[in-house]
Amino acid sequence: MSKRFYITTAIDYVNGQPHLGHAYEKVITDVIARARRSLGEPVFFLTGTDEHGQKVQQAAQAVGKTAQAYCDELAAQFQALTVALNLSNDDFIRTTEPRHKAVVSALLTKLHDQGDLYKAPYRGWYSWKEETFLTDKDRGPDGTFAPTWGEVTELVEENWYFRMSRHQGWLLDHLEAHPDFVQPDYRRNEILGFLRSVALDDLCISRPRARLSWGIPLPFDPDYVNYVWFDALTNYFSVPAALGDPGALEPLGAYAPKAEGRRPKVEGRSAGDEVRSPEAEVRLWPADVHVIGKDIVRFHAVYWPIMLHAAGVPLPHQVLVHGWWQKDGEKMSKTTGNVVDPLAVVRDWGVDAFRYYVVRELDIGPDGNWTDAGFRARYTAELANGLGNLVNRSLAMLQRYRGGIVPARSDELATEVLQTASRLTAQLRAHQLQAGLITIWGLVNRANQYVDQTAPFKLAKDPAQASRLDAVLYNLVETSRILAVLLWPFLPTTAARITQQLGLNETPDHLSAADWGGLAPGHRIGQPEPLFPRKE
Ligand code: MSP
Repeated sequence: MSKRFYITTAIDYVNGQPHLGHAYEKVITDVIARARRSLGEPVFFLTGTDEHGQKVQQAAQAVGKTAQAYCDELAAQFQALTVALNLSNDDFIRTTEPRHKAVVSALLTKLHDQGDLYKAPYRGWYSWKEETFLTDKDRGPDGTFAPTWGEVTELVEENWYFRMSRHQGWLLDHLEAHPDFVQPDYRRNEILGFLRSVALDDLCISRPRARLSWGIPLPFDPDYVNYVWFDALTNYFSVPAALGDPGALEPLGAYAPKAEGRRPKVEGRSAGDEVRSPEAEVRLWPADVHVIGKDIVRFHAVYWPIMLHAAGVPLPHQVLVHGWWQKDGEKMSKTTGNVVDPLAVVRDWGVDAFRYYVVRELDIGPDGNWTDAGFRARYTAELANGLGNLVNRSLAMLQRYRGGIVPARSDELATEVLQTASRLTAQLRAHQLQAGLITIWGLVNRANQYVDQTAPFKLAKDPAQASRLDAVLYNLVETSRILAVLLWPFLPTTAARITQQLGLNETPDHLSAADWGGLAPGHRIGQPEPLFPRKE
């Protein structure tokens, strides 16, 4: 079986509820995953939750729950978000699952046996209240630690370190030889600049269990748990390994976890998924794209490749870095109430309105700014008056003037439609999602203009213009059909509704169907219904 296009998101900390930033990342990843499926590639899309570590342990303590009970509740909310956003993920990994822990242990054991890990004392300033080591950056202007840190004392603590520094030269060479490894280019340049100017330290990969118990125990030293980032990054690899992917198991060799860590796919919602039983062979590794936010590039573009390289595991092809959202020009913050609740937006406006706005408003890379006014403006102009109006009046006119029966084929808009499809295909392959929507809306606007120019409502009044009216109506409904195909990766619900209103049974999830002439003359369409009801 061929290797699938394997795409992942960052796994979200469960120390708070899902917010716009989490939702945005998952939507853009879903659009890329659906686009690849639509292009005919087998795909595996993974997302999940990051559940260990101090932040989560403290969040659980704050509400008086055990860490596990707290994680179970929050993970359910993140899982509910994947459903609300209509994500086509093939699996959802929680780092507290046995299948993940088994692979983390295997990787740690391998690195330990190879001599990549060592134990050494660490001396530092420790805040007992915040349960964390402080650095010079935490000192106030007068050189002392602020009283908010509570009692701060110098502490010597033994920990386990990963020999990361020795791989710096190798990583620099790798980044120079693989310009696509970190994208966009300005993020790649930041990492190159960092690696050229700073000598990497070895990475502390343990926390003494005495002060942090919520983590994966080190298999070779039970007094310690694994540092949460080492644990978390491994999720991308642990799922393929747990599913029995030879591309993940072979590099682990004798360290590969036993079969009981594996399990079949979770209940399937996704299109084209084949992982139905543990026996089915899955080929995923190496990952094709890790989609992440700009704050965690160093973990993904420095620590992660070095971890894999040291363990003898092939590297992923790309780390794709998106920007951060603000709301009304300010950082989102729960304490000030300056937040966007993705679930509320989906409830009030529909999932595709949310998906459309975030992808159309923000290219993958720069930072973005959510405003409610901007959201409403795009909803009204581009969804309701643009796409919605086009499809609705095209179908309504075919019903009114031709009893809903598709007339003889006419190719007046064929060239423009096919050009749109081929431009969009190139953009989807290059992860240019915002540009892809602009391309599609070029066609939406052109078709709306075609209605105004050809004025079918006038043609309908003149019996001598009957064949001209047939031609116009064919062009409009066929363009609507192809729009559904083009829209599928972005707005799957809307795409399916358009297809259904056209009286077609198939799901518009294959770009090969964006070929002119698919609607057969004589076919009877269904009843049009508004796709994006006007508000107010
Ligand atoms: N748990 C780590 C990631 C481990 S990946 C092996 C983490 N979690 S997080 O919940 O803090 O963030 C998850 C993702 O959401 C990150 O990619 C982060 O950049 C993204 N975002 C968090 N806030 C965001 C915005 N305001 N805007 C856009 N994305 C943001 O980091």
